[in-house]
Amino acid sequence: MFYNDEMTDAEFGLYQRLIYDTCGISLNLSKKQLLMSRLNKRMNNLGLASFKAYRDYVLGDKTGKELTLMIDAISTNKTDFFREPEHFEFLKHKVYPALSSQYRIRIWSAACSSGEEPYTLAITLLEYLNNISKKDVRILATDISTKVLDEAVAGLYSEERLRGIPAMFRQKYFLKGNNYWNGYYRAKEELSSLISFRRLNLMESFPMKGLFDIIFCRNVMIYFDKPTRDRLISKFSHKLAPGGYLFIGHSESLNGVPTDLKYVQPTVYRK
Ligand SMILES: C[S@@+](CC[C@H](N)C(=O)[O-])C[C@H]1O[C@@H](n2cnc3c(N)ncnc32)[C@H](O)[C@@H]1O
Repeated sequence: MFYNDEMTDAEFGLYQRLIYDTCGISLNLSKKQLLMSRLNKRMNNLGLASFKAYRDYVLGDKTGKELTLMIDAISTNKTDFFREPEHFEFLKHKVYPALSSQYRIRIWSAACSSGEEPYTLAITLLEYLNNISKKDVRILATDISTKVLDEAVAGLYSEERLRGIPAMFRQKYFLKGNNYWNGYYRAKEELSSLISFRRLNLMESFPMKGLFDIIFCRNVMIYFDKPTRDRLISKFSHKLAPGGYLFIGHSESLNGVPTDLKYVQPTVYRK
């Protein structure tokens, strides 16, 4: 079943507002076709024939569940293991050696998608942080989308998706599936026990009590407008320990963002 309802520009405007208010994602009219095709999948599941009917359904669901599913449907979740590898080199050579005398280490992957980023962080910690077994080290991994978080918690990846991982690490940190799971690999307990996955909308206040030594917020700010980015960077700065690092995506920058964070090198900032 596929509905060919056209979305008027006025209807697009209503969705644009709803999405912006909910998760900060700023869509312009050039994204109308993309939005339509993503919403269509959800509408087909529900048997709803118009964009108006779907919006009424979302707003009428006071549990907020359908709003979450709508955000799941529209968010872009592209990610990879060892994506933007310079960041992991920087951790290995500059950050982890400096943290080696510290007992408690906290890292936050703030838009973790299906988990490749926090699992990569866990691998680098196990490989490059001295005496990790004698330390209190945790990675918090959050995302707004429950769909990708379920995948992240499962930690199950096809061979194709594991391509970014050096073969040595794949053997060491992933279990190869058999029979039905042939071609799939599961992250070992050694990795997953370092990570806590939680749903968190970056537009809301941050409930975590302690400060972080490292925050990764990569490839999500591109979807936000400047006022939203400015507010978010200020919230991150409040959550960074003195000397802590913020890593952002390679097509993102803090140019023109009012902040107390100091530029270290492209896409790396420090409190
Ligand atoms: C393109 S992925 C980036 C994943 C990973 N950080 C990386 O660079 O590979 C962007 C993620 O941001 C999440 N996201 C979008 N808006 C968000 C919000 N308001 N709060 C939290 N996560 C959000 C999406 O669900 C998606 O998983």
